[in-house]
Amino acid sequence: MLEVAQVNFIGRKEELNTLEKEFRRDGSFVVIYGRRRIGKTTLIKEFIKDKQAFYFLATEEVESQSMKRLAGVVARVTGNSMLQRVTFTDWLDLFREIADYRPGEKKVLVIDEFPYLVKTNAAFPSILQNAWDEILKDSNVMLILCGSLLSMMQKHALSHDSPLYGRRSAQIRLKPLPFTDLYAVTGDILHKKGEEQEAFAAYDSCRQWEIL
Ligand SMILES: Nc1ncnc2c1ncn2[C@@H]1O[C@H](COP(=O)(O)OP(=O)(O)OP(=O)(O)O)[C@@H](O)[C@H]1O
Ligand SMILES: [Mg+2]
Repeated sequence: MLEVAQVNFIGRKEELNTLEKEFRRDGSFVVIYGRRRIGKTTLIKEFIKDKQAFYFLATEEVESQSMKRLAGVVARVTGNSMLQRVTFTDWLDLFREIADYRPGEKKVLVIDEFPYLVKTNAAFPSILQNAWDEILKDSNVMLILCGSLLSMMQKHALSHDSPLYGRRSAQIRLKPLPFTDLYAVTGDILHKKGEEQEAFAAYDSCRQWEIL
C-alpha cells in the first residue's frame, strides 16, 4: 500500500464516493480536472492512501526520463528493484508491468499532470488509448488522468477528437471546497458572534475572485 502523509484532509465526500464507486467496478477510467491549486492531487492522494496505487506525477522532462521515473514507481510499488535498472523505451511495456502485478487484485494507476506528457509527445493520448484498450481495461486497473490545463484536458482526454474519447467511465471537474466543509473545520475558532458572517464574506469574495 502507498503511504501518503495527508494532514487534515477536508470534505470532498461526493468526489471520494464517486472514486470509490469507480474503484469497485470493472474498467474504470476517471478524468479529474480543475483549476490550479483547487485540490486535485490532494483528493487523489486521499483516495489512494489505503490502496495499491501507482502514482506518477508527469513533468516537462524528456520522455525517456519520464519512463525512467515511472519505472522507479513501478519498481517501488511491486518491490521488483530490477525494473529500476531496465531502460524502458516503450510505454506499453511499463503499463504491462503494472497490469501483470498481482493480477487478481485491484490497482490504481494515476497519471497526474497528464498534459505535460502530451506536450513532450503529441502521440501520448493514442499510446494511452492503445494501452487502455489492449492491456489495462481488462487488467484490474483503475486509471486516473489528472490535469489542470483545462484546454489540454478537454482536447486530449475529453473531446470527441481525442483518441481517448469514449473510454472514460467518469469525470470530475473539481470545484472549490464548499463553505460548509471549511466551516466544519474553522467553526470552532470562529464561534464568537458575528465572526461567522465575517468569515463567510471573506470566503465569498475569495470564490468570486477565484482565489480559493
Ligand atoms: N480537501 C483538502 N483538505 C485540506 N487541504 C487541501 C484540500 N484540497 C487542497 N488542499 C490544500 O490546498 C493546496 C493545493 O492543493 P493541491 O496541490 O491538491 O491542488 P492541485 O489542484 O493539485 O494543484 P495543481 O494544479 O497546482 O497541481 C495544498 O496545499 C493542499 O494541502
Ligand atoms: Mg496537483
